[in-house]
Parts: sequence; structure tokens; C-alpha cells
Amino acid sequence: MQAHLLMGQQNNHQGNWSSGFAFILVSVGSAIGLGNLWKFPYITYENGGGEFVLIYLLAIVFIALPVMIAAIVLGKRTKLNIVGSYRKLSNNNRWWSGVGVMAILAATLILSFYSVISGWALKYFFEGMQGTLVLLTKESSGAYFQDFLSDGSAQILYHSIAMLVTGLIVAMGTKGIETAIKCMLPVLFAALIILMFASTHQYGSEQTFNFLFDFDQNQISINSAIEAVGHAFFTLSIGIGILVIYGSYLPDNVKILPSSIMVALADTAIAFIACFTMYPIIFGADMEVSNSSGILFTTLPVHLNELPFGRWLSPFLFILISFAAITSMISILEVIVSCVSEELNLPRKKTTVVMVLLVYFMGFLSALGNGANHFLTNLSFMDKADFIASNLFLPLGGISIACFVGFYLSNKEKAAVLQVSENSLTFKVWNVLIKYFAPIFIFTMMIYFF
Ligand code: PHE
Repeated sequence: MQAHLLMGQQNNHQGNWSSGFAFILVSVGSAIGLGNLWKFPYITYENGGGEFVLIYLLAIVFIALPVMIAAIVLGKRTKLNIVGSYRKLSNNNRWWSGVGVMAILAATLILSFYSVISGWALKYFFEGMQGTLVLLTKESSGAYFQDFLSDGSAQILYHSIAMLVTGLIVAMGTKGIETAIKCMLPVLFAALIILMFASTHQYGSEQTFNFLFDFDQNQISINSAIEAVGHAFFTLSIGIGILVIYGSYLPDNVKILPSSIMVALADTAIAFIACFTMYPIIFGADMEVSNSSGILFTTLPVHLNELPFGRWLSPFLFILISFAAITSMISILEVIVSCVSEELNLPRKKTTVVMVLLVYFMGFLSALGNGANHFLTNLSFMDKADFIASNLFLPLGGISIACFVGFYLSNKEKAAVLQVSENSLTFKVWNVLIKYFAPIFIFTMMIYFF
């Protein structure tokens, strides 16, 4: 309790971003991840493109972006983590603190399986550098991937590397995070652009364009619509307090609205560029797409080998995926570490070690659940964790933040944090979106879903 009181008075004990641009970069790093490169191309393909893309875009603009802005407003206003923010502004209401704790638990869950997939990308990057992936054929690539999934020690090894790198960066605080993201993002962008050119140069982009932007080619089902909205939350990293803590490190003079729009734009652009990289190959080579990891780890490497400079394209693909995954992992671990260290008043480095170990061991459930261990394979923890996190925790977390900021902060306070006029149309529209539209919409959707 005393620690809580102390922390309530202590401002921003974890640091500050060096500028507004640095904030945009770290938020983009958090947003761009497996969701853009792995999930979006796959679910869009599965749902037939066109209308799914349209619903996704509407969900970004009218639901996810407004909620994202609300989260940043909350952090900037309180200068605290998500649990601290809820507690402080609700006058120690236990229920709200509990909602914050739920977000931290969700973050732990997501990080545990996210790290395992990041490990897969790292392994393929190392193999690609050594030239091993050139040997893969249509027939052998599936078995090669499955052998790797079933190899328990290899799974743990690469999961360990991913967790270790993330832990080292987060232990260094905001400075470390900023530096790491500034090094990784340019490599990530460069690799993606090179891959997109290679793929569209070979196979053209017309079919991809039509698939994505022909808005009335198919009848969309309500389940696909729900998936599109859920993914809008996942891709912008909303609902587990990342943007609250990132907002709390924001220098006072930085304007939230333009920065958030930049982040959402960059994230959406990358998701589309990922499609323009993968679809031409998929369509051009007339591939069957069975599942999402199938696209990335079995079919793409084989077809990349066939393109000019193919020997180097797989390493590009997997450094891209590894960096995208690690920049997101950093943000998820940062939520957990900042919250635990602020709330329990513990030093950052020690907290990082403890939390990394906790997530690391939890990750075994996913690492050994793809063939290495019979019991865990039957449990399919990774799929369940992904499903619960994306469809339950993130939307619920998002609604909570939207309602909390909507109703606990006065219009005057919100407008002041946003640095806009209370009477401006932008402010009014945003306020209605977070107070009523987003919560009612998401809630109705969830009732239908479960
Ligand atoms: N936004 C990340 C992605 O697109 C994933 C993520 C989800 C990160 C939730 C943090 C929190 O891959």
C-alpha cells in the first residue's frame, strides 16, 4: 500500500523518449510484427480479400485508432503504467486495478508464444545465411519445418535466444529500447522493400491488387468481420497497456493525434506491402495455402529460391520477420516489466530478469507443443493462447481503456492532453467514438462471437 502511495507521487520513474519521432518509431516497432507479416496476409487470403480488407480498414479508422489514442492519452496524463493509471484515476478502485492486472496477464500470455514463433524466424535466418534453405524443395520443405517443430531442444534454443535478446534490450530502459528500434526498423523496411520488388518484378502485381481492392467480389460472413476487427486490435498492439506505458514516456510537447495517425498508417502500409510481397508468389506459382506458418516457413522459402538472387532472399525474409517480431516482443515485455517494477517498487534490471524467466518457462508450453511432446501437442496451447488473447483479452482490454478514458477523464482534461480544442469537431468525433461507438460495437461483436 505504501509502495502504491509512493509510486502515485513519483512521476515517470522509468524514463522518457528523446522526441516525438522516437515515440513514433517505438510504437511502429511495437505495431509491426508477426501480425502484419504472418497473420494479415493469411487471414485476408482465407477470407477472400476485398470486403475483408474494407472492413479491416474501417475497423482501424473508427475503432482501433480512436482506442489507441485513448490509451496514449491515459499514459500521458498519469505518467504511469496501466495498473497504476487505472488505480490512480479511479481512486484506488479495486475493480479497475484488476482490469489492469488482466492486461498484464494477457501480455505475459502473448509474449510466451510470440517468442517461440520469433525463434522459428531466427532459426530460418541463421539457416538462410548458411545457405541451407537453398536446398529446400516443394516436397521437402514441409517435412523440414515439421522436423524442426518436433525437435524440443531446437525449439527451446531459439525461444531462449529470442527471450534473451528482448530481455537485454528491455533491461536498458527507454534508451536501450529506442536505440534497438532505431537499428532494427531500417533493416526491416529495407528487407521488405527488396522482397516486394523481387516478387512483383517476377510475377507482377495486378492480381494481388484486384484481390485486395475489389470490394464487392465476395459476400463477407459475420465471423470474418469479427476476425477483421480483432486483428485491427492485434496489429496496433491495443488492449494490453503498451500504448499507455509508451504514452507515459512521451515528452510534453509531443502531439498525440498526428503521431498516432502516423503509427496506424505505417502499420497498415506494412501489412499491404507484406501482401504485395507474398501474394504475387502465391498466385504466380499457383500455390495451395494451407495455413499461416505454412506460407512463411514452407512455401515462401522454396519459391524465393527460384527468383533472381534467390540465395539471398530467404535470409532477407527471415531477418525481416525476426526483427519485426523482436521489436514487438520488446514492447510486450516493457509493459510487464514497467508495471511490476513501478507497482512493487523494484529495480528495473531485477524485475526484467524475473519476468523474462517467468515468460520463458511459460513459453515451453508453446515450444514443446508442436510435436516435441505428446501431451503438450494435444493441448495445442499456442493456438488457444493466440485465440483467447486476440478474441477476448485484447478487445476487452480495448473497451476498458476506451470507457475509462471516455468517462473518468473530463472533456477539458482530455482536450488538454491531446492539445486540441474541446469544441473542435475532431475532438467531439473521437470522444463519441471511444465513449459509445467502440465499446458498444466491440461488446455486441463479442456477445455474438462467444
Ligand atoms: N502488434 C503486433 C503484431 O502485429 C503484435 C502485438 C499484439 C504486440 C499485442 C503487442 C501486443 O504482430
